[in-house]
Amino acid sequence: MDSGLLVRAEEVSKSFSGVSALNKVHFDLRPGEVHALLGENGAGKSTLMKIISGVYVRDAGELYINGKPVGDLTPLSAQRLGIGIIHQELNLCSHLSVAENIYLNREIAAFGITDRKRQNGKAKKYLDALELDVDPDTPVRELPVSKQQMVEICKTLSMSAKIIIMDEPTSALTDKEIDDLFNVVRMLKAEGCGIIYISHRLEELSRIVDRVTILRDGQYIKTLNFADTNLEEIIACMVGRNLSEKFPKITVPRGEKVLEVKNLSSPHGVKDVSFELYQGEIVAFAGLMGAGRSETARAIVGADDASAGEVFLEGRKITIKNIRNAIKEGIYYIPEDRKKDGLCIKMTLSENITLPSLELISSLGVISSGKEMEKAVKMKDTLRIKTPGIGQYVANLSGGNQQKVVVGKWLMRDAKVVIFDEPTRGIDVASKIEIYTIINELKKQGIGVMFVSSELPEVLGMSDRILVMCNGRITASLETKNTNQEEILKYATQYA
Ligand SMILES: Nc1ncnc2c1ncn2[C@@H]1O[C@H](COP(=O)(O)OP(=O)(O)OP(=O)(O)O)[C@@H](O)[C@H]1O
Ligand SMILES: [Mg+2]
Repeated sequence: MDSGLLVRAEEVSKSFSGVSALNKVHFDLRPGEVHALLGENGAGKSTLMKIISGVYVRDAGELYINGKPVGDLTPLSAQRLGIGIIHQELNLCSHLSVAENIYLNREIAAFGITDRKRQNGKAKKYLDALELDVDPDTPVRELPVSKQQMVEICKTLSMSAKIIIMDEPTSALTDKEIDDLFNVVRMLKAEGCGIIYISHRLEELSRIVDRVTILRDGQYIKTLNFADTNLEEIIACMVGRNLSEKFPKITVPRGEKVLEVKNLSSPHGVKDVSFELYQGEIVAFAGLMGAGRSETARAIVGADDASAGEVFLEGRKITIKNIRNAIKEGIYYIPEDRKKDGLCIKMTLSENITLPSLELISSLGVISSGKEMEKAVKMKDTLRIKTPGIGQYVANLSGGNQQKVVVGKWLMRDAKVVIFDEPTRGIDVASKIEIYTIINELKKQGIGVMFVSSELPEVLGMSDRILVMCNGRITASLETKNTNQEEILKYATQYA
């Protein structure tokens, strides 16, 4: 046994209401290494991390921290042992300030009163380390998701943890923020900290990872030195088979013009956007974070007010004041922030999936639970949502499976135009292909599909045409087959 290990988990098991989430799993962490924990959505990664950080209690197995066996941990006792976790779903109090969040329950006080000035000063130190230009007094709710994620990271760093768990820290970050985060990770490594790193963005692993452990369906598969393996092997271990093509692109003949947007502007930074979308066409919106892609989508579907512009559907001018109007016209928007916009976390899977389509499953105002179940089961199977049943609360699904529900609930409808915003964020490699297959299905039906994505391989792999945005404007309209990553990046940084 290596007594120098920071963490050693042996045969750890955990079930939820009789359903196994982890079965005799092994994991260990050395000082000064980044150890990636990989697996498909629902494989048990977050569950194992919650056991190590005292959020869940294990059913069986041994856990050693710094070489010593530990019993059941609580979040506080784990913190005292030097374990810090950055949770997959943001865990901040949105009404509190950045500094108050960082020092929540550990307020820097003198005589029982929080010393705001000193607290802000200390918080600033961590914000600076991540090159995060925000005032420690800003309420967290005023920050975009990526900045909130960085605050969550600052909070963990400020606890001077030796064992740092990052559960999908980069899924909402900009490229620059990812660079800053990785610099911090390298610094922590040099100080002898151990980092457990969970991510579905496999391309980024090579930048920081030393070892990988792979879980599949709650089972331990294997641990590999990153230098001795490759992505093909890792993916094969994750999914238990060789994957077919990563981007299953199909071609269908382009139909009639379905959507035309003319000179659209919005107070949220959309500037004079015009474009057309055809039946059976997939148009990707590329650009850097903050380029105005989501804002354009939101202005089209009435989620934000537009300040100018016209929208034509099948040649007819339409007025969309809110999402409800958009749905009525057959334009659906699948948002990026699942917790805020996309899901009722306290409702079940089947309720969430059928929510936008209640009129399709009810007669005379009464919901047919038979129909609800039938639709929900079908969607669960199509999207391979991993859950013991459709009656499960969405809050209990793994992060990636929640995202599938967000996508799934709109696919029951008859649509003319579907707009996806970062449809595969946080989704594992195999499930991404399923989402692409669904997008293809829409395409085959002659629906016009738009998607906003920050992943260029996906943009290039799945779209017919690419609209590049920068600073609220469309800077290029490119045929996908005639362009490449460099050209897209050039237009993405072309401030007009
Ligand atoms: N509190 C809970 N109650 C019931 N089931 C749960 C609970 N937490 C997790 N599960 C189930 O345990 C399994 C493993 O979930 P976990 O969140 O660990 O997956 P994951 O590997 O982190 O996936 P993802 O990549 O999607 O985040 C899933 O089937 C999930 O539905
Ligand atoms: Mg998870």
